[in-house]
Amino acid sequence: MSQKQEIILSGIRPTGRLHYGNYFGAVKAFLELQEKGHRCYYFIADYHALTTITERVDFYRQTIDMLRTYVACGLDPVKSVIYRQSDLPCTAELNLLLGMITNIGFLERGTTYKDKMTKLAANENMEGNPLSFGLLGYPVLMASDILIVRANTVPVGDDQRQHVEMAMDIAQKFNSRFGETLTIPKAVSRNALRLPGLDGAAKMGKSDNNTLDLLDDPATVLKKIKGVQTTTDPGPLGTDSDEPEDVIPLLPHSLGALYRLLHLLAPKDVYLDFVGKYRRGEKFYGTLKTTLAEHVSKFNAPIIERFNAAGNDEESVKEFLRENAKKVTPVALETVEAVRQAMGIGHSLYRA
Ligand code: AMP
Ligand code: TRP
Repeated sequence: MSQKQEIILSGIRPTGRLHYGNYFGAVKAFLELQEKGHRCYYFIADYHALTTITERVDFYRQTIDMLRTYVACGLDPVKSVIYRQSDLPCTAELNLLLGMITNIGFLERGTTYKDKMTKLAANENMEGNPLSFGLLGYPVLMASDILIVRANTVPVGDDQRQHVEMAMDIAQKFNSRFGETLTIPKAVSRNALRLPGLDGAAKMGKSDNNTLDLLDDPATVLKKIKGVQTTTDPGPLGTDSDEPEDVIPLLPHSLGALYRLLHLLAPKDVYLDFVGKYRRGEKFYGTLKTTLAEHVSKFNAPIIERFNAAGNDEESVKEFLRENAKKVTPVALETVEAVRQAMGIGHSLYRA
C-alpha cells in the first residue's frame, strides 16, 4: 500500500435501524476506508445511547440488530474491528480522566446539548431529568472513544463536526498541560453530508420519525416517499448550474430531500432529467416519487437479503463481540495508562 496507514474510528448509537443519513453520512465512508487498508475501528455506541433515557430500553437487542446491519452493508469483520463501546470499559475511565480538565462552559456551548435542551424545554411531558450529567458530558465520552485508539480520521456526518472539534480541543489541552500524550485527530471535512429528513427538517434523524431506512421493504419505501409533502407550484430554480450543491438548497425543503436522495442513488441523467422538469414547471412529483422509490428499494434489496441470511445465533454473536473487544483492548489500555502516568496518578496496579 503506497498510502500511509491511518487509524480510523467511528461509532453509531444503537437507537433504531440504520437510515440513509447514517449510510451516506458515515457508513459509506466506513466501507471506502476499510477497502483502502487502513486500521478501522467501528463500534456501536451503547453508552452514548443512554444519555437521554428515562426508562429501560433493550439496547442489547438493538446493538445486535445494528451489528447485523453493519455487516449486511458490507463492513467486513476480517478487515475492520467491529465492537460494542461498553465492551471497552476503559473508555469510561478515560472519560473520567478527561472530564477533570474539561470546563463546563465549554460543554454548554455544544450544539447538540443546546438543541436537546431547547427541545426538552418545549416538551410539556418532560419526565424525570433528561438533562443529565451524561448528556452534558457526551462530547467528553466521544473524545474518549476517539483518543483511546489514537484515531487520526473520524468519518462522521456534518452533525458530528463540532463533537470531533471538541475532541481535538480536549486532546490539545491535555497535551499542553501534561506533555505530548494524545494523538490529535483531523477535523471533519467541509464536504461532510447532512441529509435532510423526509419531513423537510434539516436533518434525517432516528428520533424525529423522518427517516428512510436501509431495511425498509418496497411497500414501506413507497409509502414513506409518497407521504413527502411537495409544493404544487415550482418557481424557477434561479441558477443555471446543475450541480446538486447549487440546485438542492434552492428547492422547498422536503423536495430538496427527495432530490438529494435521487442524486445519491440514481444515474446522473435521471437526476438531471428531474432538475429539467422542475425548471420547466412540469407536473412531475408522482414520477419523481416512484422513480426514487424504485432506486431506494433496489439499493435496500441486497442489504435486506444479507441481513435476513445472517445467523441469529446468540452465542456466536457474543463470541464475535468478545473477540473484537479483545482486539481493541490492548491499544486502549495503553492509552489510558499513558494518560494516568501523564496526570501523575501512576499505572493501575490492579490491571498490571
Ligand atoms: P447517530 O445515528 O446519530 O448515532 O449517527 C451515526 C452517524 O450517522 C454519525 O456519523 C452521524 O453524523 C451520521 N448521521 C446521522 N444522521 C445524519 C444525517 N441526517 N445526515 C448525515 N449524516 C448523518
Ligand atoms: N455521537 C455520535 C453520533 O451520535 C456517535 C459516536 C459516539 C461517535 N462516539 C463516537 C462517532 C466517536 C464518532 C466517533 O452520531
